Amino acid sequence: MKKTVLVSGGAGFIGSHVTVELTQAGYDVVIADNFSNCDETNYKGVCAILGRELPLIKMDFCDKAAVDALFAKYPIDAVIHFAAFKAVGESVAEPLKYYRNNLLSFINILDAAREKGGCNVLFSSSATVYGQTDQLPVTEESPRQPAESPYGNTKTMCEDILRDSVKAYPGVRGIALRYFNPIGAHPSALIGELPRGVPNNLVPFITQTAIGRRECLSVFGNDYPTPDGTCLRDFIDIVDLAKAHVCAVTRMCENKMKQEYEIFNVGTGKPLSVLELITAFEKVNGVKLNWKYAPRRPGDITAIWADPTRAEKELGWKAQRSTEETLAAAWAWEKKLAGK
Ligand code: UD1
Repeated sequence: MKKTVLVSGGAGFIGSHVTVELTQAGYDVVIADNFSNCDETNYKGVCAILGRELPLIKMDFCDKAAVDALFAKYPIDAVIHFAAFKAVGESVAEPLKYYRNNLLSFINILDAAREKGGCNVLFSSSATVYGQTDQLPVTEESPRQPAESPYGNTKTMCEDILRDSVKAYPGVRGIALRYFNPIGAHPSALIGELPRGVPNNLVPFITQTAIGRRECLSVFGNDYPTPDGTCLRDFIDIVDLAKAHVCAVTRMCENKMKQEYEIFNVGTGKPLSVLELITAFEKVNGVKLNWKYAPRRPGDITAIWADPTRAEKELGWKAQRSTEETLAAAWAWEKKLAGK
């Protein structure tokens, strides 16, 4: 029997890539999105890659009646929850907007899972829960640290809400995937990242600078205690990251979990500096990037990368794509958007 997976925020950057991988792995996917932070570009791209339309429900997960109606309509075996606000700076300026949206949407999903008598729930968490630690790489047992921002705090809080719900409600099972820095685009160049306004994240800023939409990339800080003075991150390819979701959903649906609530790091295990990433982008794509050093960005941590051993052992998942492939895909997507 085919299993049905509900993907909240399925029209977004990560959700659209996960939808493609799940469908190609044989799952029926129902996409639900309120389009508050994206348009239909990625949804259309998903349909083009798959060669067919997928069910798309325009709805807000903060609307409990709408969530209940969705669960009544479809035989949902698993939910992946992406529908959340994600701008760190905005979350500092408007914390209530973040707490209301990111917590309430998840609570409504868990409530529907509880009322249904059980469901598999995958939460999209973040390495942001680790904060800055001296013990690198981080394992899933590394202590979480107080979040730097309300956005980060909603990730930590949702992990706890999932953990406690799993404990209390029979049949509700959960996995939290802690993403490091997802970058890149689908090799088809039909789906990718579509930041609204000025990008906050590094790779969209790089590609927009390379294409000429931004004048100059600022590298935030060159005085960090790292080999070249710039921050170290674990950049994970978006298609690799999407595949980790297929492994996690399958583990839940096939009753292979060792505990009712599990956590996995999703990263490459290899740190790369901001400068190394820029150099790799220029080299693989044969472009010269206009960039300059700028002061540190408040709230940035010096270095973080994953120990991905648990995901490899338990999920059978490992990052496959090279940084070069990933950066070539990011550039192909930006050129496609620009019509070049
Ligand atoms: C950020 C969020 C994190 C979130 C993740 C999603 C913060 C503090 N953290 O991670 O919670 O889960 O995005 O992908 O924002 N950089 C530049 N110039 C730029 C943009 C970035 O030098 O124009 C540098 C940053 O200083 C950082 C690195 O690039 O060292 C990566 O930045 P970014 O892509 O924003 O990701 P994170 O900050 O690691």
